[in-house]
Amino acid sequence: MGPMRRVVAFARYGPAGRRIGRSLRVGGERELAIEAEGVVRTFGHLRALDGLSLTVRRGEILGLVGPNGAGKTTFVRTLAGLLRPTAGRVSVLGRAPGPRAAVDVGYMTQSAALYEDLPVLDNLVFFGRLFGMGRGEARARAGDLLALVDLKGKERVPVRALSGGMRQLTNLACAMVHRPRLLLLDEPTVGIDPVLRRRLWEHFAELNAAGTTILVTTHVMEEAERCHRVALIGAGRAIAVGTPAELKAAADTRSIEEAYLVFWGRRTRDGAS
Ligand SMILES: Nc1ncnc2c1ncn2[C@@H]1O[C@H](COP(=O)(O)OP(=O)(O)OP(=O)(O)O)[C@@H](O)[C@H]1O
Ligand SMILES: [Mg+2]
Repeated sequence: MGPMRRVVAFARYGPAGRRIGRSLRVGGERELAIEAEGVVRTFGHLRALDGLSLTVRRGEILGLVGPNGAGKTTFVRTLAGLLRPTAGRVSVLGRAPGPRAAVDVGYMTQSAALYEDLPVLDNLVFFGRLFGMGRGEARARAGDLLALVDLKGKERVPVRALSGGMRQLTNLACAMVHRPRLLLLDEPTVGIDPVLRRRLWEHFAELNAAGTTILVTTHVMEEAERCHRVALIGAGRAIAVGTPAELKAAADTRSIEEAYLVFWGRRTRDGAS
């Protein structure tokens, strides 16, 4: 069994996934960091993703904006290889989502996925080592990240003894420790104070300037404004995609929030289910 077939097997992909695997072996480097076409994900009778199509270009910051339950986290989990689409095509950095792609992907989950009994520093080093970093390199990088997120002095504290915001920051640092080429950030700044929130966005911009592609979900419209493009998600689909300025101009509104309502209204008026 070759590596690509193992990935496909691991991700338990259907026929569509296998096709992606083959074409991308030939395709190599591409302009698109993420390609999703007609992605459906059902949970029983619920269609959490209902034919979502979206592309994320290499080097951009793309924001996913939409109400609770719109399918944002489901989509991000699909990209991370944790959920298999029921139908449709997904590729991430030119590969089917799965362990091979994961080396280049940093995923910050909406609820923290950390080792509660391990100290903060060890959590970061663990994730760095998991993705192939040497111990020294992982420790150095962990130190830099802990400084960035203001957790210097907490290195030895077990995660279970952190405040909610500190836990969130540790979670974020763990997603970035192996210097991924693509960061999937699911509401990265929830529960984080305004000063740190601003600093984190500055860091996202720096990472992005250095070549990291970022997909970020947010309910904070100021954050959406900082994205190169925003995809408005509703009922498991992308209802509009564009730069913040384009979306507001197309909807003739002053905020992305208002633009969302306009696009949503048009969509339901046009008879989409
Ligand atoms: N594992 C699951 N089992 C059953 N239903 C699920 C599961 N995960 C998500 N759902 C459902 O799928 C829908 C989309 O959920 P999802 O978490 O993707 O929304 P979201 O856009 O991230 O919302 P929020 O802004 O609140 O984070 C919801 O109705 C949710 O209840
Ligand atoms: Mg979510």
